[in-house]
Amino acid sequence: MDLEPARPLSLTLDTERLLLRAPREEDAARIAELANDIRVIRGTLHMPFPYAVEDAQSFITRSRENREAGASLNFSIEQRASKLLIGGIGLVLEPVHERAELGYWLGVAYWNQGYAAEAGRALLDFGFGVLGLYRIYASHYAGNPASGRVMQKLGMTYEGTLRSKIIRLGERKDSVCYSMLLPEWEAARTL
Ligand SMILES: CC(C)(COP(=O)(O)OP(=O)(O)OC[C@H]1O[C@@H](n2cnc3c(N)ncnc32)[C@H](O)[C@@H]1OP(=O)(O)O)[C@@H](O)C(=O)NCCC(=O)NCCS
Repeated sequence: MDLEPARPLSLTLDTERLLLRAPREEDAARIAELANDIRVIRGTLHMPFPYAVEDAQSFITRSRENREAGASLNFSIEQRASKLLIGGIGLVLEPVHERAELGYWLGVAYWNQGYAAEAGRALLDFGFGVLGLYRIYASHYAGNPASGRVMQKLGMTYEGTLRSKIIRLGERKDSVCYSMLLPEWEAARTL
């Protein structure tokens, strides 16, 4: 796989309604405004709660460092029409295995309008088509069917459920796993 196309901070991905771009310092207040909501946080793996502006600032710094190091590729999701940041999406890159893990979140006001699937499709296309990944995977908590639905809409395949995999916010959670492989992405493109 070739990490070079993922490194520039200027990298943007365009979709019909969204612009995906590197998180920048000015995003911190807006990220905190949307993310400081337990309905968002409880679906995620790492985001703290409460979620403060300082958490967003360190996320933005980490994102820049990790992008430069080729360790991950995070984007702020911007709604083209309003130019507002509405969420985040990213790939944690594991070049040795030519694989990456997809994760995403959106502010509650933007749920159920197809945005996560639209942004996710752009990341699958970039991951397989440009970076040369072979496997992109994602997982959601058993109690988060909306996220599972996004993975299904993306054409990912259910792989299984890891029981009691994670303790999150004091609760034991099953982790429901999906993935897509390069030949599946290629086959879907030619349909
Ligand atoms: C998961 C999340 C990103 C989905 O974003 P979104 O933009 O609403 O996703 P989409 O609109 O593309 O798709 C959501 C789908 O879930 C469905 N859905 C919503 N609530 C549901 C529920 N309780 N049960 C089953 N399906 C549900 C929607 O109907 C939609 O499917 P459809 O298009 O077939 O109608 C958003 O809910 C979120 O940010 N949650 C908190 C953070 C999180 O869980 N991140 C994922 C970590 S794995």
